[in-house]
Amino acid sequence: MPMVGLGTWKSAPSEAGQAVGYALTKCGYRHIDCAPIYGNEREIGEAFGSVFGGGSLRREDVFITSKLWDTEHARGDVRAACEATLHDLQLDYLDLYLVHWGIAEPKGGHTYDENGHLVVEKVSIRETWEAMEELVDAGLVKAIGVANFTAPLLLDLFSYARIQPAVNQIELHPYLQQTRLLDFCQRLGMVVTAYSPLARPGYEEMSARLVDEKIIRSIARAHGKTPAQVLLRWGIQRNTVVIPKSTHPERIKENIDVFDFELSEGDMHAIAGLERGLRIVDPYQWGQVPYFD
Ligand SMILES: NC(=O)c1ccc[n+]([C@@H]2O[C@H](COP(=O)([O-])OP(=O)(O)OC[C@H]3O[C@@H](n4cnc5c(N)ncnc54)[C@H](OP(=O)(O)O)[C@@H]3O)[C@@H](O)[C@H]2O)c1
Repeated sequence: MPMVGLGTWKSAPSEAGQAVGYALTKCGYRHIDCAPIYGNEREIGEAFGSVFGGGSLRREDVFITSKLWDTEHARGDVRAACEATLHDLQLDYLDLYLVHWGIAEPKGGHTYDENGHLVVEKVSIRETWEAMEELVDAGLVKAIGVANFTAPLLLDLFSYARIQPAVNQIELHPYLQQTRLLDFCQRLGMVVTAYSPLARPGYEEMSARLVDEKIIRSIARAHGKTPAQVLLRWGIQRNTVVIPKSTHPERIKENIDVFDFELSEGDMHAIAGLERGLRIVDPYQWGQVPYFD
């Protein structure tokens, strides 16, 4: 699994395909992170179609992830959801398919009761996981994993999983380092992917200006690199896969140019000093579900 992938959340459908095509053919990316809830899998699929169809890369050269959305957790829905993603992405198989959240929701997206609380469906993770395992058996996906799983959810999942989750994709950046969960996942033999590794600097909501931190800027200056490159390198040196999102060509290029320098122990330690427990992506914000409490 390549250590740097291209994220695609909030990549506008009109830009997502171009960004993916550029990343694959001009910048050396070999890993793309997708999800149907991002609303751009069709456009990304067109990019895959032209990159793989045009012969510039082979399908097997690229590691492609997608995710099962919350409304598709029921046993009878999982395969159809995966097939819809494969169809949109113009692929025969995924390298990795993740359960996006440990929350099942009714069809039609977020639904709220009269008190404004998110309505959840009674589908166990076990039911969903068994259907995920069948996707591996059927050859639709090479590996399965989870995203946003906490230690209690993982403990439960590992008690019955016939096929172990290969990956936990979680929010990780210096403001939210989750060191204990990272260690725990690695001890379980899982790869940990860091999402929002730059803390989403470009947005009004759900974002933080970690790239402007004095210490990040000064370490970047010392290495002749950019703040974003320092943040990504920090993630890689923690043995996490990083999946920064951008639709700007110069940033897409910048974000994978992180293999020609190394942060010292002192740099790593100084960056670790930025921990704030600042979680950016939290279902409490959209459903008052205290998922991470
Ligand atoms: N499993 C989950 O629940 C989950 C949740 C969140 C994210 N993810 C995945 O993880 C990916 C990355 O996380 P994210 O998109 O939340 O946040 P992120 O990658 O930390 O930040 C993306 C933001 O940073 C900007 N940016 C990118 N490169 C930059 C650079 N070199 N310098 C300055 N700004 C830069 C982007 O702007 P421009 O595009 O304008 O360049 C965008 O506004 C997502 O796209 C998605 O694939 C998964």
